[in-house]
Amino acid sequence: MKKVITYGTYDMMHVGHINLLKNAKALGDYLIVGVTSDEFDISRGKIDVRQSLTERINAVRETGLADEIIAEEYEGQKIADIIKYDVDIFTVGSDWVGKFDYLKDFCQVVYLPRTEGISSTQIREESNKTVRLGVYGHKEPAGRVVDETAFVSGIKASSVYSEDAEAGKALAEKKSIEACGSVEEFYDSCDAVYINANINERADLIKDALKNGKHVLCEGPLSNDEKATSECIELAKEKKLVLFDAIKTEFFPGYKHLELLIKSGKLGEIKDIDVSFSQQDASQNYDEMTRYEGSIYDMCGFIFLPIFHLLGTDFESIDFYSSLNSNGADIYTRGLIKFSNAIASFRTGLGIKTEGQLIITGTKGYLYVPAPWWKTDYFEIRFEDLRDTKKYFWQYEGEGFRYEMIEFLRRINTEKYEPDFSRSLATAKALEAFNDHRENVF
Ligand code: CTP
Repeated sequence: MKKVITYGTYDMMHVGHINLLKNAKALGDYLIVGVTSDEFDISRGKIDVRQSLTERINAVRETGLADEIIAEEYEGQKIADIIKYDVDIFTVGSDWVGKFDYLKDFCQVVYLPRTEGISSTQIREESNKTVRLGVYGHKEPAGRVVDETAFVSGIKASSVYSEDAEAGKALAEKKSIEACGSVEEFYDSCDAVYINANINERADLIKDALKNGKHVLCEGPLSNDEKATSECIELAKEKKLVLFDAIKTEFFPGYKHLELLIKSGKLGEIKDIDVSFSQQDASQNYDEMTRYEGSIYDMCGFIFLPIFHLLGTDFESIDFYSSLNSNGADIYTRGLIKFSNAIASFRTGLGIKTEGQLIITGTKGYLYVPAPWWKTDYFEIRFEDLRDTKKYFWQYEGEGFRYEMIEFLRRINTEKYEPDFSRSLATAKALEAFNDHRENVF
């Protein structure tokens, strides 16, 4: 009996897949189909697969062409499978020509002709209208966000508008997108807006974009003011538009796993979170930061992410201790947040350097993420007995913005999406305390 094996994602099963499976089956007597697991796809950078592993396996089964279906879970598995299942022929479509020649040491390798004019990527793009993303503001990370749209099917960077027209034009030219001379032109050029502005200007810009019928993605908090934050949220609800104050770390595979692990009770009851974030960029002059810049405004989105997700948003008190520049912007802040049954402490710094770690302390053990924790690709859980330590490795791709964009798109394309803004509101409450009490200054 001649055994044939083939592999693929098989997302949104299409005629190209069916032709491939038919031709693969015709090469022998018994066809094994390897379907990539969700984690394996994520680890190799294929992050916008629409269907789950179960759905994709069911679709392969329904073709009636596979004699056996297995999951492909790690790089290097193909050799192991070929040996394990005593495979005679390995086959894939001609888009992979040459890529699997290394398997010739183990079995025959056949590249079958690919069906022209169809792919899962194309179906994913066509299933929803491509969202044109306009970038408001020219400062970084605007450029990096534009670059990352290239990795997300269904979203396309369309245009940029900046009050500094020259800088806006320069960014547009560099990224080959449209430079808009006016806000009206800008709104005409896009369906969704990425807002990149100082915190005191953000809420007005968000409201303006929502009033113009645009979905809004913004980095960091919506505002430093509770009332303005609520107004943005209400307006988005009224207009049935997506408002998303994204923190890219939240959607990294490693960070998502970390939260799930803690919520499963592995560390017992969480009693303390200690989190730091600092950045030193030689091209920045931190002495010139204005009152509405500074380390807390820049970094609070990140440091509040684990604190509010794991301890809740109902804090009893928050205290800040800051070192300010001559304009009143904090170059370093240390803070304490008290909850009824836990405590959190944090450090943020711009133009200052400290260990950017995250430590989550529970009654059974603790979780440690080394610097830079916000680029979560590795963490450990540790217990009294050192032998119980477990290490976890994850990967994220590129600058990471692609993960929040996929989530933004998902929210845009999900009918009746019910957002949870409790973290946004708690952040605004915390920032009001920071605005009001810049008194613990050193
Ligand atoms: N395939 C094919 N003809 C197509 C599309 C895919 O023969 N038009 C083959 C691939 O060469 C591979 C198998 O089908 O052997 C599974 O491919 P997969 O990557 O799941 O499908 P794509 O449509 O190429 O998916 P994507 O666009 O996500 O890369």
